[in-house]
Amino acid sequence: MRLVVAITGASGSLYADRLLHYLAEARQHTPLEVGVVLSENALTVWEWELQKPFPETFPRYHHKDYFAPFASGSAGYRQMVIIPCSMGTVGRLSAGLSDDLITRAADVMLKEGGQLIIVPRETPLSALHLENLLKLARLGVVVLPAMPSFYHRPQTVEAVVDTVVFRVLDHLGIAVAQRRWGLEES
Ligand SMILES: Cc1cc2nc3c(=O)[nH]c(=O)nc-3n(C[C@H](O)[C@H](O)[C@H](O)COP(=O)(O)O)c2cc1C
Repeated sequence: MRLVVAITGASGSLYADRLLHYLAEARQHTPLEVGVVLSENALTVWEWELQKPFPETFPRYHHKDYFAPFASGSAGYRQMVIIPCSMGTVGRLSAGLSDDLITRAADVMLKEGGQLIIVPRETPLSALHLENLLKLARLGVVVLPAMPSFYHRPQTVEAVVDTVVFRVLDHLGIAVAQRRWGLEES
């Protein structure tokens, strides 16, 4: 399984941090290749919000490095998550701009029929944001907003964030131990 994790300059770097944490765990029992790319503003937001260095758990590529394997369909990356996904990236994606490695890799996912999951973060959403998101949803993009759930009564910020991250992992088909509504812990 080859997966791209893209991180943009939307608030919610913790969503990306928790996803990378679970992917590092999953790698111990699942064959998993992960390529990471941060947008130009993502690291600024990461450092502001998390006040810790970015974890170099997986190979990381510069946002203008079109020599990264997943800049081409031929490298066989067929899954991609953009987490968190800014409205700027949503707009560029929906216009097909391909002007950095994130929008190029996402464009490759769409043309190759791969799985693209975006975790948009903004509030409130303007009509332009909603139109752009609708356009992407109609192209088959999984629009999985950073909208945590509270029915398991999470007690920490990480547990709140994980309610979204677990949905991302479910869509990727990566198993982690988690509570599921109406079921025992699996
Ligand atoms: C601390 C901080 C938080 C931000 N939060 C958001 C956000 O939640 N959603 C959003 O769309 N943009 C947010 N922005 C603005 C984006 O970083 C900015 O529009 C950037 O150009 C997006 O480009 P990118 O998608 O390439 O990272 C934030 C910026 C900063 C500095």
